[in-house]
Amino acid sequence: MWFASDNTSGAAPEILEAVVRANAGYASSYGEDAAMARVTDRVRALFEAPEAAVYLVATCTAANALGLACLCPPWATVYCHRRSHIEEDECGAVGFHSGGATLAPLEGAHGKIDPGKLALALEAGASASVHNVQPGALSLTNTTEAGTVYTPAEVAGLAGQARARGLPVHMDGARFANAVAALGCAPAELTWQAGVDVLSLGATKNGCLGVEAVVLFDPRRSREFELRRKRAGHLFSKHRFLSAQIEAYLDDDLWLRLAKRANARAAQAAAGLAATPGVRISHPVEANMLFASLPAAVDRALQAAGAAYYSWPDPQAVATADGERVSVRLVCSWSTEAADVERAVAIAAGAMAPLP
Ligand SMILES: Cc1ncc(COP(=O)(O)O)c(C=O)c1O
Repeated sequence: MWFASDNTSGAAPEILEAVVRANAGYASSYGEDAAMARVTDRVRALFEAPEAAVYLVATCTAANALGLACLCPPWATVYCHRRSHIEEDECGAVGFHSGGATLAPLEGAHGKIDPGKLALALEAGASASVHNVQPGALSLTNTTEAGTVYTPAEVAGLAGQARARGLPVHMDGARFANAVAALGCAPAELTWQAGVDVLSLGATKNGCLGVEAVVLFDPRRSREFELRRKRAGHLFSKHRFLSAQIEAYLDDDLWLRLAKRANARAAQAAAGLAATPGVRISHPVEANMLFASLPAAVDRALQAAGAAYYSWPDPQAVATADGERVSVRLVCSWSTEAADVERAVAIAAGAMAPLP
């Protein structure tokens, strides 16, 4: 019963097999490998973006920070959600890699930036003087950090506001596959057609060993990205092993099949826990993450049975008159077993069953 993070799952067999195949013989280094040329073609075809530039790095922090650094000068600020990974969990990487850009965190329910709050922030930014940081870019996360999914229309609404002010748009797609799997839309609809300029296309959480793609829909930024990636130490010499992972990931829609599996397990957990007395689901469960407020008895029973998950502070889920509660995050991955979800739900239900 391992629900701590999709990062705690292993790599999918298809990915491992591709890496082993890539080990044969010799290949050009530093991204000049033949597999990378195929990856670029595949990503361009998938996104219906024949001009897009595609680069691989090993972490999504690097993908986000290097992508945003290409969009923002050091004196700019990036509008993002208050709970976004770039704001809360990347140790200031955007500022570091951009040479000083700051973040402007915005509120919004269920992990989504409130369009009204963005409008106010952009309005205020429009009158920035030489004494202030300047509006730089908008960053959206999809799947959001609350496990919800922005629709193409929602992305277009927020991105449209930024673009109307001349600002570019970045998307943290650490769990982009889970969002596309949930929506059933074309990747293009959720990105450049909705106004996204740069996408961090996640793969590690969804079955790869360690690789993320950065997709620059405007290739004019490609040289700058190449230089920033090298300078950041993210241009891999034996790059073929990164290419092999992404090639296998996109083969036969593996990326979507893995994400659908993870999403289905989260839906199963949500249905089971929502039916458990006292459990409150905190955000709509739309992809592979579930946030809930649990009665302490449920939390204790799950912990005692060895279930792994994080408690997750949720300002909206404070202790109430009906007793002590614990806010938690449960994440399902491509490898989560239905039986483990079933068992966790049964333990939760058992903890709330009336004593005989
Ligand atoms: C939404 C989101 N973006 C970015 C990252 C960063 O990924 P990495 O740990 O590979 O740098 C994470 C990691 O958990 C994440 O959840």
